[in-house]
Amino acid sequence: MKYTRLGNTGTIVSVLGLGTMTFGEKDISKLGTVPMEIANRLVKKAYDSGINFYDTADVYEEGRAEEILGEAVRPFRNQVIIATKVRGKTGPGLNDVGLSRVHIFNSIKASLRRLGTDYVDLYQFHGWDVLTPIEESMEAMEQLIRDGKVIYPGVSNFAAWQMAYLQGMVESKGYTPYVSAQMNYSLLNRDIEYEVVPFLKHSKMTLLVWSPLHGGILSGKYTDLEKPPPDTRLARRGKLFPYFEKEQLPSILDKINEIGKEVGATPAQVAIAWILSKGAVVLIGARTVEQLEENIGAVEINLKPSHIKELDELTELRSMYPNWMIERQNAERIPKGFI
Ligand SMILES: NC(=O)c1ccc[n+]([C@@H]2O[C@H](COP(=O)([O-])OP(=O)(O)OC[C@H]3O[C@@H](n4cnc5c(N)ncnc54)[C@H](OP(=O)(O)O)[C@@H]3O)[C@@H](O)[C@H]2O)c1
Repeated sequence: MKYTRLGNTGTIVSVLGLGTMTFGEKDISKLGTVPMEIANRLVKKAYDSGINFYDTADVYEEGRAEEILGEAVRPFRNQVIIATKVRGKTGPGLNDVGLSRVHIFNSIKASLRRLGTDYVDLYQFHGWDVLTPIEESMEAMEQLIRDGKVIYPGVSNFAAWQMAYLQGMVESKGYTPYVSAQMNYSLLNRDIEYEVVPFLKHSKMTLLVWSPLHGGILSGKYTDLEKPPPDTRLARRGKLFPYFEKEQLPSILDKINEIGKEVGATPAQVAIAWILSKGAVVLIGARTVEQLEENIGAVEINLKPSHIKELDELTELRSMYPNWMIERQNAERIPKGFI
């Protein structure tokens, strides 16, 4: 395993984290059923491979994912970083959703109970809440940190301007800095490179990547998206999520296959290794122990700079304004001989 720091802190996390969105028996979200017994094997395998980062959320399988994760990590609870989230709808009430003080306080109480722990290491706003002033949410988060229920705050699915506003508030109020942003990123969706990635670098926040295989698409197992093999996420859900431009897919699959053959890796491993090359922490999803073993193997894949360049060029984003104007204006800003 390889390791990095969580944000600008002294806490060390593995570059692969285990996602638990599939944990639960009922398959409410049609993401796949991972019951307690398999979850124990997945978590043990991840832990024995050096993974110390485990991501969940209050909404995954209506809270069951937190219960299962909490039980599976109990033997080594203090050796692992548990990340969970608040924002999604957890009940029928008007206030069972969002980032209000009421919901944040109710949700952490329920998450701690389900996880069977006194604190979560990383508590993430699962998304922006259009109704709650972010100041209210941040004050509630800070209270949880003071109470010892949360160690570090983080965000997920925020726009760069929202994170910038929030970190500005951190500075002016003397709050605990937000250490990470959990975002979708893969060879099929590089949108965060426009604004989010530069902001995270600037503010020394860790990029935590969700759906690195785009829900399994980048494993190459869907030869015909209209006829997915049985017992796959696409067959179960009947729709693609996260969305992507389908026309892009064949050339990307060809390329990761080709590179995989050269370096002795599967397409899934190449897709994950490409994200790792960008300095992110990748939250791998796995429904079976075999998938987990394969995905963990991505850490050992050494992509050559030429491979990364090929993948970068193949999936390059359209240059966006004002980014191209900023680049243009700054291209000759630093004079020759300047030190
Ligand atoms: N913050 C957010 O809004 C957000 C959103 C989504 C996810 N997440 C986090 O990110 C984690 C990972 O997301 P994800 O599960 O969507 O990741 P993913 O890696 O894109 O998809 C995982 C799924 O792909 C299939 N798969 C995985 N490895 C495979 C392999 N080697 N070969 C063939 N199929 C393979 C499995 O589904 P099947 O076998 O069922 O086809 C597996 O459940 C989640 O658990 C969660 O913690 C966060």
